[in-house]
Amino acid sequence: FGRLQPQGPLTGLRVLVTSGPTHEPIDPVRYIANRSSGRQGHAIALAAAQAGAHVTLVSGPVNLPAPPGVHVVHVESAREMLAAVEVALPADAAVFTAAVADWRVAGAAEEKIKKQGGGGAPSLNLVENPDILASVSRMKAGRPQLVVGFAAETEKVLAHAQAKLARKGCDWIVANDVSPESGVMGGDRNTVHLVTAEGVEDWPTMGKDEVARRLVARIADALARGGV
Ligand code: CTP
Ligand code: CA
Repeated sequence: FGRLQPQGPLTGLRVLVTSGPTHEPIDPVRYIANRSSGRQGHAIALAAAQAGAHVTLVSGPVNLPAPPGVHVVHVESAREMLAAVEVALPADAAVFTAAVADWRVAGAAEEKIKKQGGGGAPSLNLVENPDILASVSRMKAGRPQLVVGFAAETEKVLAHAQAKLARKGCDWIVANDVSPESGVMGGDRNTVHLVTAEGVEDWPTMGKDEVARRLVARIADALARGGV
């Protein structure tokens, strides 16, 4: 842990952030993944550290340096991410930015799968991964005061985000508009809406670092007021 700002608005508080994609093994040399860069989650971890928090960043495989002052735990699969999150708790606030793979291969092969001359392609049997955000949101004891999810949507952004807020039991959803009209997935900027029980706040399109700083300021505010 490091605290870059001993007098910041999150001084003395613990923040957990997940970031990046997960990799779900097919066999020892192959995996299922997605295009998440981890940039938004890493920016949030850095902003929280700069605000004085003790930050644990549980990150899937990314090509990014560890943000200064942040304790990084590297994981590959969704199940490893869940286990690392459980170890990292308790926290005052938790922000789930990771693009967790929704499915993994049931019974990944222990040896590299070989082509079977003329035998055709293997089929993959997929099973659903644990929902890390939902399981932390529903913790009976030791739930973070503030649990924030992210949702990247290409259509009906607010309706889907509001449904996710209810379904997962988190406090806020940062709805990220990734429709082709509003910015490219994997780009430097994001168009987000902060969805809470009180309603929806539309934020202008801005850099991921700025989204991070603004979200961290809102989190500090909410924790100072004693919760959501
Ligand atoms: N999330 C998670 N664990 C999962 C899936 C999602 O913690 N197994 C978290 C993400 O980190 C994000 C939020 O849940 O904060 C929403 O993820 P999203 O993929 O948008 O939601 P899903 O419920 O998986 O719905 P869908 O992909 O079908 O839109
Ligand atoms: Ca998903």
